[in-house]
Amino acid sequence: MKHVPTNRRRFLCRTGVGVALLPLAPSILLRGGESLPPSAKVNVAGIGVGSQGGSDVDAVVGQGHNLVALCDVDEKYAAKKFAQYPKAKRFKDYRVMLDRMGREIDGVVIGTPDHTHAVIALEAMRRGKHVYCEKPLAHSVQEVRVLMASARRHRVVTQLGNQGHSSGSIRRLCEWVWAGAIGPVHTVHAGCDAFPQVYCQQRNLGKVDEHHDVPPGLDYDLWLGPVPFRPYSPLWVHWNWRGWMPFGTGTVGDWVCHVLDPAFWALDLDAPSTVRAEVTNYDPARHGLTYPPGARITFEFPAKAGRGPVRVVWHDGTTRIPRPAGFAADDKVPGTGAILLGEKGMIVHGSHGGGGCHLVPDELMNQYSGKNAPPEKIVRVKSHAWDWLEAIRTGRQAGSHFGYGGPLTEVALLGAIAIRFPGQTLAWDAKAMRFTNHEKANAFVSPPYRDGWTLET
Ligand SMILES: NC(=O)c1ccc[n+]([C@@H]2O[C@H](COP(=O)([O-])OP(=O)(O)OC[C@H]3O[C@@H](n4cnc5c(N)ncnc54)[C@H](O)[C@@H]3O)[C@@H](O)[C@H]2O)c1
Repeated sequence: MKHVPTNRRRFLCRTGVGVALLPLAPSILLRGGESLPPSAKVNVAGIGVGSQGGSDVDAVVGQGHNLVALCDVDEKYAAKKFAQYPKAKRFKDYRVMLDRMGREIDGVVIGTPDHTHAVIALEAMRRGKHVYCEKPLAHSVQEVRVLMASARRHRVVTQLGNQGHSSGSIRRLCEWVWAGAIGPVHTVHAGCDAFPQVYCQQRNLGKVDEHHDVPPGLDYDLWLGPVPFRPYSPLWVHWNWRGWMPFGTGTVGDWVCHVLDPAFWALDLDAPSTVRAEVTNYDPARHGLTYPPGARITFEFPAKAGRGPVRVVWHDGTTRIPRPAGFAADDKVPGTGAILLGEKGMIVHGSHGGGGCHLVPDELMNQYSGKNAPPEKIVRVKSHAWDWLEAIRTGRQAGSHFGYGGPLTEVALLGAIAIRFPGQTLAWDAKAMRFTNHEKANAFVSPPYRDGWTLET
């Protein structure tokens, strides 16, 4: 397949070929108005460190940089991480932390639930901090757009936390597609069968109104952030939030940034023109606070220069990726992963940057691997954290910067909206940021914030 990008600057950003060619500023590491040499260590603060955010700060420290502060709304849930880094200053409120330590902090790592990514990242970028933010980038499309604009305006180094984007496998997969190993790609089946009990909380719908005191040590108001107030329930917080629509984005939101990343990059997918969900055992009127036990979501990506239209079909929970014609008896359909269907063959892979990617049939693997592998077109990086930190030190952009991770997140968020309107084809106008045939769906593109919270920059 011949891959001819329309916009070279954007293509370079996306391929990673050109990240080193895209300087952000003459000197990117400024602390307290002073410009630091590239040899300086980056001072990082972690926000939301009780679980994944804790691993993310470990990765920063593992690269030899300084962890100067930790911020978490729940001192009990984050206690282990606080104890691991006793020298890091501790905070509950990220705004207080940024006020008090603004001059010391170069960048923040955000590992809070999806519904607070935007307000925290925005506050940090407004103050000129570089941002590593967990996936999905935000909870609504409007938040994504505001974050992308803010990152551009403040010229900060950004990285979405889809760590597979820094892998060798995703690079190999892109190079296979660009070398025409499977011919023009017309369809991608992707999906995730992990943690169905978390994403579908139908069994708990009757319990969400039970009274519970907020546990000591948790600032629930700050945990809620911009989401309209609802009384505390242990069902909302810590890990569970991903199955509740006001806070999480369901399986599709949690996994698209990992699982669809290879196809998104290799095929320069951008925005779909339509999205349509089919759901199993789910009535949005009754179950609409949580996600379905299984969903199939079809996205149509229009043709663009160098490739034809691409249909992406997302399968989650009880709905599994179908076994394609042409699979040998011992070929395995991934539970979490994807299959790219081309005119000449297929690429099959698992999660996180095309893990375990291989060509089907086997003859193609022989033709395109080992000494026959296509030339490396994309710069290899040591790790996702390394890429962000190195980009900060050297004044370039990181590989999964918000200009890339934003549109990828939007695909996930459009899928999460479509689930609310099963069986209906929603026509998406990405430029206008609205559905052209569905006013009710548009309400979820930019949901209202609680009083006192704003997306203004
Ligand atoms: N990249 C990956 O592989 C990966 C894996 C798991 C989770 N994630 C992402 O990481 C994020 C966190 O997921 P999790 O499973 O760790 O969630 P979690 O609920 O287990 O942990 C979130 C942490 O953030 C804290 N927190 C919540 N609101 C806060 C706020 N306003 N300010 C400061 N701290 C706050 C919580 O107290 C908790 O310690 C999500 O966006 C999720 O999608 C990514």
